[in-house]
Amino acid sequence: MSKFTFVPREELKTKQPDSSKLGFGKLFTDYMLTARYTQGQGWHDHKIEPYGPFQMDPASMVFHYGQAMFEGMKAYKAPDGRTLLFRPLDNFRRMNHSGERMAMAQIDPDEMLEGLVELIKKEAAWIPADPGTSLYIRPTMIATDAALGVHASKTYLFFIILSPVGPYYAAGFNPVKIYVEDEYVRAVRGGTGFTKCAGNYAASILAGNVAESKGYTQVLWLDGVERKYIEEVGAMNMFFVIDGELVTPPLRGSILPGITRDSVIKLATHLGYKVSERLISVEEVFEAHAQGRLNEAFGTGTAAVVSPVGELNWDGKVITINNMENGPIAVRLYEELTGIQYGRKADPFGWVYEVK
Ligand code: PLP
Ligand code: COI
Repeated sequence: MSKFTFVPREELKTKQPDSSKLGFGKLFTDYMLTARYTQGQGWHDHKIEPYGPFQMDPASMVFHYGQAMFEGMKAYKAPDGRTLLFRPLDNFRRMNHSGERMAMAQIDPDEMLEGLVELIKKEAAWIPADPGTSLYIRPTMIATDAALGVHASKTYLFFIILSPVGPYYAAGFNPVKIYVEDEYVRAVRGGTGFTKCAGNYAASILAGNVAESKGYTQVLWLDGVERKYIEEVGAMNMFFVIDGELVTPPLRGSILPGITRDSVIKLATHLGYKVSERLISVEEVFEAHAQGRLNEAFGTGTAAVVSPVGELNWDGKVITINNMENGPIAVRLYEELTGIQYGRKADPFGWVYEVK
């Protein structure tokens, strides 16, 4: 017997038949998963119910003090028709790491995966099958106590919504232009940078607006103390290829421990590339470029997959990387990673989880 009570809806929505019009995160499926938490009682009222608005008390703590966090993963349609998830337990475990820092409730990753599988099975017809498309999965948790004292909420709402998506960037798999942010900072060690709390993203929007107004897609954050070392981009971790070696910033508490980042490190090492997790300053990147040693730059993320970076603007100095073309290492890693995710290639790491 499933723990999740199914509440059917009267009428199903019309699906977008043209997958080139999906964009990212604009359409949502018929159903969502919900569960409620009460301190002392644990999780209860597990449901798969019609996607729709919540009724919330205006004093709900999430509106005032921002106890909110989310995850991002995808379901992929394999050429043989199977539905595949990619390292889903890692996302639920990461939500618990975020939750610890945000003083929010812990979930049982196995239980939520079970519910997700049930939800996805009901929504299988929503998974687009064209190249580069997938069903984006957004698990979220918010604080629901109606109370204005600054304390941890004693009640939470957990939900999972699903969105059929195309590429995250309008450019598709083509190099993006990134603005190196040297005024605002995203996170400092000891803060919430390693979590997927909503506030991290709220605090990034102003810098993103400024970058967009200058013609850039996202900002590249520098460390919040010295404003010297590369951290990450708005929705992805960064890799630089210098003299053929992949370099990515280490996990020191201020950046998100990306699941794609970890997969790319393992995959690249497996393919014979040298990968270093070390501090890398923006100055070193610009110097390597001036010396002709910066071969490629790319970001990694669930939404962004592997996204080549073709231009960086730092303090008015602009560099073009690999002639604004997709580099061979980014292309290889994109092919290998998506090959595993979509079930086209063998999965030597045991990352793929079949929904059945
Ligand atoms: N960094 C930030 C700030 C993100 O929002 C994301 C997206 O989730 C990533 C990195 C990449 O993480 P992942 O590969 O787990 O999706
Ligand atoms: C993801 O890649 O899943 C993300 O969460 C990025 C996002 C903020 C759109």
